[in-house]
Amino acid sequence: MRGQLLKLFFSLVITLFCLGSLLTTVIWYMVNNNNVEPQRPHPKKKSTPDSSDPSDPCKSCREVIDKVIERYSQTWRKQENNYQQFSSQLSSQCHGLDRAIITQANTPVGSKIVYDGDKKKTLKVTPELFSTFAKEHPFPNKTWDTCAVVGNGGILTNSSCGDIIDSAQFVIRCNLPPLGKGYEKHVGTKTDIVTANPSIFLEKYGALMGRRRPFVESLHSYGKSRLLLPAFSYGHNTPVCMRAVYSIEDFESPIQPIFFNPEYLQSLALFWRSRGLRAVRLSTGIIMASIALEHCANVHLYGFWPFGNHPHGLHALTNHYYDDRQTKTKFHSMPAEFDLLLQLHSQGVLRLHLGDCQPGEK
Ligand SMILES: *[C@@H]1O[C@H](CO)[C@@H](O)[C@H](O)[C@H]1NC(C)=O
Ligand SMILES: *[C@@H]1O[C@H](CO)[C@@H](O)[C@H](O)[C@H]1NC(C)=O
Repeated sequence: MRGQLLKLFFSLVITLFCLGSLLTTVIWYMVNNNNVEPQRPHPKKKSTPDSSDPSDPCKSCREVIDKVIERYSQTWRKQENNYQQFSSQLSSQCHGLDRAIITQANTPVGSKIVYDGDKKKTLKVTPELFSTFAKEHPFPNKTWDTCAVVGNGGILTNSSCGDIIDSAQFVIRCNLPPLGKGYEKHVGTKTDIVTANPSIFLEKYGALMGRRRPFVESLHSYGKSRLLLPAFSYGHNTPVCMRAVYSIEDFESPIQPIFFNPEYLQSLALFWRSRGLRAVRLSTGIIMASIALEHCANVHLYGFWPFGNHPHGLHALTNHYYDDRQTKTKFHSMPAEFDLLLQLHSQGVLRLHLGDCQPGEK
């Protein structure tokens, strides 16, 4: 009797177990089939993003953009305590005031440069290399009152923000943006620092291996500003950046080339990582905003908007204010860097400009 009961019990347990696994498998399949996007036979051919649907310009981005606008305060006010706290944390961890840029003072002959994008690579500073370093820090004034950091987002198209950007004491621009051709009304012309990614030398100027005059002439619109180069981030950046430096010297262009200090970029990456940013590399925009936060009492950001649709009109935007390519960013989540900048905006540490400006506004 007891043996039979035991047998019955065990077969019951085994049956239940089998049924359970079967059920789990079935549920697992159902859940996964629901989540996995249907296979598209020609994913490359899918060239109609949601934004071009005329009935709804922004089907899947609306939710994300609505959340941004909810967090974005139009009646922004600087919160002095939050600004002081953030700026001093940044200074004590990254020392941008002395270290953001390579100078003859912080990088003497014989010292060793460690590349921030490739830490196995180092470069010993020779007298020739040393002679290309800035003699002093390129922010002569360590405490500017207002600084504008201008990203190149399509949100600046027809924004009329040129006057207000130019009214800042110090203007930082990213990646050699065009300033003429009618853009000046929307992005201004004043430039104190302009960055250049070496990829632009490769794409537009034949890696500066041939004629260099077109490159040097393209720099005229930036006047006597500083050209900030990531010469020591990757090994292959150095030769092309040096060709840029020598072209500028040989053609006697008034622009002054300077270099990001890879040691600073490294500490800045750690600083943002400790605040939850998991990106492999920081964008030029957040790097320049960070430098500005150490130097400027009032930091204004323009042209920072990672979505393919305008926050107010929801109309489709181009990737940059000066091209006609569509933004590739997916709408499904907020890019982490922008999220952090939006946080700083909400805390009154810096001010993000997402709307159009009034012409003549100061
Ligand atoms: C430096 O900044 C201060 C405070 O904003 C300002 O009054 C002064 O004119 C600036 N100096 C230069 C050389 O621009
Ligand atoms: C910007 O303004 C110009 C001139 O008014 C207009 O032709 C152009 O379509 C506008 N561009 C966008 C993207 O709104």
